[in-house]
Formats: sequence, C-alpha cells, structure tokens
Amino acid sequence: MNYDEIFPKIISHAKEYGFIFQSSEIYDGLSAVYDYGQLGVELKNNIKMAWWKAMVQMHENIVGLDSAILMHPTVWKASGHVDAFNDPLIDNKDSKKRYRADVLIEEQIDKYYQKAIKDADKRAQKEGWEKGSEEYNSFLEKGRNGVKAQELQTRLEEALNAEDSLTALRDVIIEADIVCPISGSKNWSEVKQFNLMFKAQLGATEGSAMDIYFRPETAQGTYVNYLNVQKTSRMKLPFGIAQIGKAFRNEIVARQFIFRMREFEQMEMQFFIKPGTQGEWFEYWKEQRRKWHQALGLDPSKMRFHLHEKLAHYADAAEDIQFTFPFGTKELEGIHSRTDFDLGRHQEFSGKKLQYFDPETQESFVPYVVETAVGLDRTFLAHLSNAYDEEEVPSAKGTMEERKVLRLHPVLAPYKVAVFPLVRKDGLPEIAREIIDDLKFEYNVMYDEKDAVGRRYRRHDAIGTPYCVTVDYETKDDNMVTIRERDSMHQDRIPIKKVNDYIRDRLDWRNVLK
Ligand code: GAP
Repeated sequence: MNYDEIFPKIISHAKEYGFIFQSSEIYDGLSAVYDYGQLGVELKNNIKMAWWKAMVQMHENIVGLDSAILMHPTVWKASGHVDAFNDPLIDNKDSKKRYRADVLIEEQIDKYYQKAIKDADKRAQKEGWEKGSEEYNSFLEKGRNGVKAQELQTRLEEALNAEDSLTALRDVIIEADIVCPISGSKNWSEVKQFNLMFKAQLGATEGSAMDIYFRPETAQGTYVNYLNVQKTSRMKLPFGIAQIGKAFRNEIVARQFIFRMREFEQMEMQFFIKPGTQGEWFEYWKEQRRKWHQALGLDPSKMRFHLHEKLAHYADAAEDIQFTFPFGTKELEGIHSRTDFDLGRHQEFSGKKLQYFDPETQESFVPYVVETAVGLDRTFLAHLSNAYDEEEVPSAKGTMEERKVLRLHPVLAPYKVAVFPLVRKDGLPEIAREIIDDLKFEYNVMYDEKDAVGRRYRRHDAIGTPYCVTVDYETKDDNMVTIRERDSMHQDRIPIKKVNDYIRDRLDWRNVLK
C-alpha cells in the first residue's frame, strides 16, 4: 500500500474499533490530546507490562519508581529546562500564524517527497506497475532521495548545528523560498525561542501563589529521588531506576496523530554508573533497547539508529532508535549519556549532597547516568502501523473478500482469545462460557455470539485477537473445539482441555524476553 494512503486508514481504524479517540470530541476536540478507548487501554497496558518486565523484573539491579507530576519549581531551573527547553518559532507577519522554523523546512522537504510519490504514480500507470511493487518502490525511493530534498535536508541539519541557529534557520527559510501555507507570503519575522513547559499556579491566594510546571519528562523525578532509592534499596553502582508516567509539552506543531502530543506518556530508565564507564553502558543499552522493540515484533528493516550531532543541554552522547512510521522515519526512543549533569545541578541548587560512596575505593562521587527514554504513545503507534494489514482472502461463499488484520504480537494483543458458540442455543453458549471461565484467570478473553462465525473472525482479525475458539454441535459429543490462528487462518480441532496448552507457548513472556 502507498505510504500516504495507509496513514489515514490506520487513524480511522484506531477510532472505529475503540483504540483511540480525540480528547473532548463532543466539544470539537482539543488539539494534540487523545484518549485511549477500550482496546487502546489494553494495548497500552500490555506495552507497559512488556517494558516493566524487561527493564525491572529481568534486571536485578533496576528498581521502579512513581514520582509526582508536580515538583518544586527549582527542579526545572536546576535541570536547565527553564532556560533551555525551547523550540525555534517564526511568525508570518501577514497571516499572524506561528510556526516551528525547523518543521516549516521539514514540510518543504516533505513536499518534494509528495512530488516523488506523484511522479512514481504517473510512471506506474505508464509502465503498468502495481503500487507497492518492487519497481514502483525503487522508483519512489530514487525520487525521495532527489537532489532538492537532500540539499534542503543537509541545510536544515547545518542550521540546527550552527552557533547562531536561529538566524541560520531563518536564512534557510528565506533562501528556500518557503511561503506561509495560509497567506502564501514570505513576510517572515525573526526566529525566537519558545519554552515548551506548561505552567500552573500552586496555592489559592493571589500574590502568594507559586508558579509550577507540569513535568516535561519523568527523568527529573528520578534524579531528585536518587538518594532516597539508593539508600533504602541499598543498591550498588551500576543500578537503574525505571519510571512510567505522564509528561506534558506545549508543542507548537502537534501533528501526525499520537506521534507528537501535548500530554503523553514516557517509559524512562536512568542507569547510574561510575564516571568513565558511560561509553560501554551506552552501547549496552542501545543494543538492549533495539532487541526489546524487535522481540515485540517491530520489523527490523524499519528500524535504525540515528546519532545526534546537536546534543541536548544535558548530554555528552545521544542516539535515537528511529522507526519508519507511515509518514517517515522518525525518533521512537532516545538513548542519552547524561554524564553527572543532572545530579550535579540538583546538588548545586538544593545544597544537598547527591554523592555515592564506593565501598571498594572508599571514594565519594556524583554518579554518571545513561538514560533510555521511549514514548509509550509512539511505541503504540509504531506497533499499530507495523501490524495493520489489508489482504484478499477467500470468503465462505467461495468469492474473495478483503480482510483487515492487526498482526500484533500475541502478548500485546488486547484480547488473547475470543470464544464463540456456533449458535446461541442448545447448550453451546454454556460450554463457551465454561471455557472462558477457565481461561480468564490468565488471559483477557472475549465471548462473542453475534453474526455468522466468518463475520466474527473478521471482527477479531481487525482488533488483533490471535486465537478464536468455536464451540459447535460436535463439541457436545466429543469435547473438542475448533481453534483458529489469526495470521495463518489455520484451524485445528483440539480437546477443550488442551486449549490452554495450545495458546500458552505463544503468550509466554519467557519466549518473548529471554
Ligand atoms: N528524558 C529524556 C527525554 O525526555 P526526549 O527525546 O525529549 O527525551 C523521550 O523524549 C521520548 O519521549 C521520545 O523519544 C518520544 O518517544 C517521546 N516523546 C517526546 N515528546 C513527545 C510528544 N510530544 N508526544 C509523544 N511522545 C513524545
């Protein structure tokens, strides 16, 4: 399927089946804020569980934490977020619209890409190529790597790395003849910095109220608790603290569905180490995190590492794990070597010692940190995009029909098993309920009796249920059921008492995380 056709389909699929809804939809929505529906919350919880198991449960030297969203405002002064957590913004003086300067340039690059798609479509029509065929994709790829797009990409990267990057970004916008999408004019302001943190007021009395911030990352809650956790858990270096929680950023350009949101969730782990060992731990965590994404079924050919040339204010090395979403290859997770910057700054601003006493060398020092930081919502979107498929399959009538299928890894699927009585009478529903009563202690199971069995299969394919079990008249005599696997559509006849064994293997975390 073509890149630009598939994304709108994924978004409407997510809504139609209750994965994701626009926040406050009955009031026309709140931009870049989303709610997770009945299936979305299951998938999200399964991703969280997969992360927590891999990071906390599977590592003796990593423990969890759940720190508050609201913190003392000096935390953000110390961390550098008050002064340096900014986006470069530019105004169009005619439309009075505000844009992120780097995104304006990215959108121009995207326009060149869109042109490449149009050219590929035209050529495909002429040559009789199928969209998505090898010839089509290779022609498209050549177009996407065309000179104009490449040149602009290089100029954007140079501008972002320049000493005076605000002026450099504006120069690129002017020289590339980028116009405002609303006014069509090139009447641009200077580029200015805009802080991304949401502010709120703590306290009821005017004058005595204190400005506080909604945290833009979970990491700072971990740093300010570093000593509490280290002392009470009696952890020795190296050790890690993992956290899953909400973060908030006043993103100016919030697009691409749940890719960039104003309220989102992060799964972050801070790994405290001896200074000088950061290089080896950085490589270790890069590899661990790549393996985790792939163990859960993300296509390795859609993943790559991307080295940061321009580093955030806290890092001495940083690499992203990027994933090819339907709208392009973008950051999914960041691995950051944060040195002793954060603990050092909190020590300085709080006046409290945040040092580690090494019993072997009898020395005290501020530990270094390697951080793994992945967006839960982005991981969700990566799996949704990776899993969504449409294919032609034979129908019960012998004709071909389309099936939409979410090929989610079984451990992530919202429901693991759906149990159907063939008909709603003659004792079949009761047998189906007994099977559910046995499975529900271990798995999220759904009972479904509406419509013909073929329609029920389609419904469960569309939400990613890996196994469907059908109880029919023969079941009453032989205690056997039909079990059907989602991806292969293969069906087996097995005894009821073997159903659990049949599915256990593919749902066993051991096989995923070992
Ligand atoms: N503690 C480091 C940190 O916050 P980051 O690269 O800014 O680093 C980590 O964020 C991850 O959080 C990103 O890789 C991305 O997956 C996710 N993320 C960041 N901003 C986001 C947003 N506005 N919406 C959704 N996910 C976001």
